[in-house]
Amino acid sequence: MTTSPSVSTIRPRDRDALIQALRGGVVPRAGIHHIQVGRFEEVRALLEDCRRIADGGSAFRVVIGEYGAGKTFFLSLVRQMALESKLVTVHADLTPGRRLHGTNGQGRALYSELAKNMATRTKPDGGALASVVEKFIATTREQSEQTGTPVETLIKQRLASLTELTNGYDFASVVASYWKGFDEGNEQLKQDALRWLRGEFTTKTEARTALGVRTIVDDDTVLEMLKVLARFTQLAGFSGMVVCIDEMVNIWKMHNTKAREANWERVLGLCNDALQGNASGIGFVLGGTPDVLMDQRRGMYSYQALQSRLAANSFAKEGVKDYTHPVVRLSALTNEDFYVLLQKLLLVHALGDAAKTVMPIDAGPRSFMEHCYSRIGEATFRTPRTTIKTFLDLLAVLEQNPDKTWNEFIEAIEVKRDDGGDLDKVPEAAADGDELTEFKL
Ligand SMILES: Nc1ncnc2c1ncn2[C@@H]1O[C@H](COP(=O)(O)OP(=O)(O)O)[C@@H](O)[C@H]1O
Ligand SMILES: [Mg+2]
Repeated sequence: MTTSPSVSTIRPRDRDALIQALRGGVVPRAGIHHIQVGRFEEVRALLEDCRRIADGGSAFRVVIGEYGAGKTFFLSLVRQMALESKLVTVHADLTPGRRLHGTNGQGRALYSELAKNMATRTKPDGGALASVVEKFIATTREQSEQTGTPVETLIKQRLASLTELTNGYDFASVVASYWKGFDEGNEQLKQDALRWLRGEFTTKTEARTALGVRTIVDDDTVLEMLKVLARFTQLAGFSGMVVCIDEMVNIWKMHNTKAREANWERVLGLCNDALQGNASGIGFVLGGTPDVLMDQRRGMYSYQALQSRLAANSFAKEGVKDYTHPVVRLSALTNEDFYVLLQKLLLVHALGDAAKTVMPIDAGPRSFMEHCYSRIGEATFRTPRTTIKTFLDLLAVLEQNPDKTWNEFIEAIEVKRDDGGDLDKVPEAAADGDELTEFKL
């Protein structure tokens, strides 16, 4: 006899947001711990990474899974764990206009998106950069009051270690400008400083006029800036920073060999910095499909140096896993995981109250799964997004039609195969690699 899962009480508003996101086919922004199933070893490994980063170490992981395997969900879990470990997180999806390397602002655009999405435990939804800067300023002021040293001098002293990093000198001087703006009630100066830190200046002239600095974040300094940012979060009192980049498939998709290789070279840079200990207090977690890693023609394996770092541990075979390896492979959720997931969804729908579910907690999800399986077979579990959506649609209908019985409805459900991840249907990128169609996996 299996025991049914329990779900902690959830507020109606949070439940609605969670269910709405899942019905819309996206991973919810908050509350995913209510529905998480499986992945215990993977979670443990990444939790260990968070600890190492918080300890001044570094981490690099590539999360690989087929369409619907749960990469985006897992990255979200990682961010949540990171925030709980007092780390700051930044995350972004790659798109044709946002890449690790570009010659036309794509690198800067990626940095900007990451910086915009900066999150802390108290600001889990992003937009936390300003509060991190404020926190740094606040602790500097306290120190200034205790020691009598002027704030400007202390800022310089405290940020001295940044200046050994590329862009670090200007970074420090922009933070000083933020303080100046704060001290003098100059809102514009504060805003300009934040714009610079978020990589939103597009020309050096503009940045120089506004802030007197000579550099801006550009396509060539993205990684360096991320390292500066991570160091800064530590100086502001956090434990370090985790960088999550999803939809790596956008690099695999690039047609132009040189441009694509330039991006893999950047990935190699992240990998080397993290694994050789050149970076401290920072971790990178990248999400992509198996092709992104293993395709010899366009994937990470097409770039020799990356292949040698990411090649599978030859001892790790079917049933033998190595969770210390930089590549984390997410296999499809098992039938049992999926069953528990549906039970959790049913409970979340009932606000955590097992006595109020709209169908029996055991028989309901089971019949639903059997029905799906009879229609689309094992794709039910391989591409969970539509199955989850259908299940939630069913719960909504049951709730609104209490006079009907649940099994009547199940028989009538139309189950569609989810082929949203069929890569062959995505048009090839234009020859210059720039007019790429964005697509999500
Ligand atoms: N471990 C998990 N526990 C609960 N639900 C999950 C889990 N992994 C994935 N899901 C759900 O499965 C669906 C597909 O996951 P997603 O992360 O979007 O896949 P991918 O990014 O690999 O295509 C989403 O609705 C997500 O909420
Ligand atoms: Mg995804």
